[in-house]
Amino acid sequence: MTLLDQIGGQDSVDAAVDAFYVRVLADDRVNGCFDIDMKKQAAKQKRFLGSLLAGTAQDPEGYMRSAHKKLVEEDGLNDSHFDAIAEHL
Ligand code: HEM
Repeated sequence: MTLLDQIGGQDSVDAAVDAFYVRVLADDRVNGCFDIDMKKQAAKQKRFLGSLLAGTAQDPEGYMRSAHKKLVEEDGLNDSHFDAIAEHL
């Protein structure tokens, strides 16, 4: 049984991610980053977390690094932003 099964499947991830982005968008420490299509963003996050919990994610570290490369190199994304996001997650 995977972690995904144990927490109630993809439906649980989907519900958690929806609640997560409500919190993220209300948090001034990080909401400036999210001037993007949040429907698409939530869909990607659901897919990513679902694959991690199912144990099927391919190179999640590489994917995370490339997804946030521009933010880190050009927009000053740092550990304090990560900590805020992790708190909400
Ligand atoms: C646990 C930490 C995090 C996880 C799991 C996560 C997950 C993701 C995922 C799955 C994507 C989509 C990548 C793709 O396009 O396929 C993404 C993109 C993005 N993330 Fe994160 N993220 C995290 C931390 C952060 C933080 C700390 C910020 C900023 C405060 C952030 C801002 C963004 C933005 C703005 C994008 C869109 C980038 C673009 O489309 O160019 N993320 N993230």
